[in-house]
Amino acid sequence: MKPTRFAGGSFRGVRRTSRNELIEIRDEQRDDVDAVRDVNRQAFGHEQEGRIIDALRERGGVVLSLVAVTNGTIVGHIMFSPATVGPVLGAALGPMAVAPGNQRKGIGTQLVARGVEQLRNRGCPFIVVIGHPAFYARFGFQSAPAQALTCAWDVPAAAFMVNVLHPDSAGRLQGSVEYRTEFSTVE
Ligand SMILES: CC(C)(COP(=O)(O)OP(=O)(O)OC[C@H]1O[C@@H](n2cnc3c(N)ncnc32)[C@H](O)[C@@H]1OP(=O)(O)O)[C@@H](O)C(=O)NCCC(=O)NCCS
Repeated sequence: MKPTRFAGGSFRGVRRTSRNELIEIRDEQRDDVDAVRDVNRQAFGHEQEGRIIDALRERGGVVLSLVAVTNGTIVGHIMFSPATVGPVLGAALGPMAVAPGNQRKGIGTQLVARGVEQLRNRGCPFIVVIGHPAFYARFGFQSAPAQALTCAWDVPAAAFMVNVLHPDSAGRLQGSVEYRTEFSTVE
């Protein structure tokens, strides 16, 4: 799988969960496709996110896709796809999923932290996310509407957030955030 932009070296790192289990965070590989779909199905309770992920992957809409592995099993996944604000190309975080039996151990935190770190290292100017403010604030995400950014979907203002990784290349981000069409067309 080739990332759309912000290409960088492959990533592999081993950490521990909050319950002291070893957790490996690494780039998604070709053989991981079914397991990634399974983790998303388990976490969300339906197929839509898995279908969006498959469509993004097939159409070159992946900036970064990381998996979390414990005991040889994929238990978590995070994807970043291209998003634009005017001429500035950045990334959108999501979907993200951790299998229900492995939630609340810090695995989601590791996935977000490693993803943000990777994209910062690759020079990505910004990341947007729609999610829980208290969770994402830990990684540097702030209110996107407060920065004059608007979302194409009707989401609570507090849930729409942006993390400006490189202020110089991001410039004065303002206006509508454009996501990949797969998010609104794949059911
Ligand atoms: C969201 C998700 C990926 C978090 O993964 P996780 O491994 O359980 O996350 P962590 O253990 O690192 O962190 C959990 C923390 O985030 C908070 N949190 C995460 N998502 C939250 C949500 N939707 N609502 C409230 N709190 C949330 C928890 O309160 C917890 O805080 P704490 O550490 O202070 O107790 C996981 O719960 C999941 O897969 N949920 C279903 C799918 C989903 O909603 N994905 C996100 C939208 S794309």
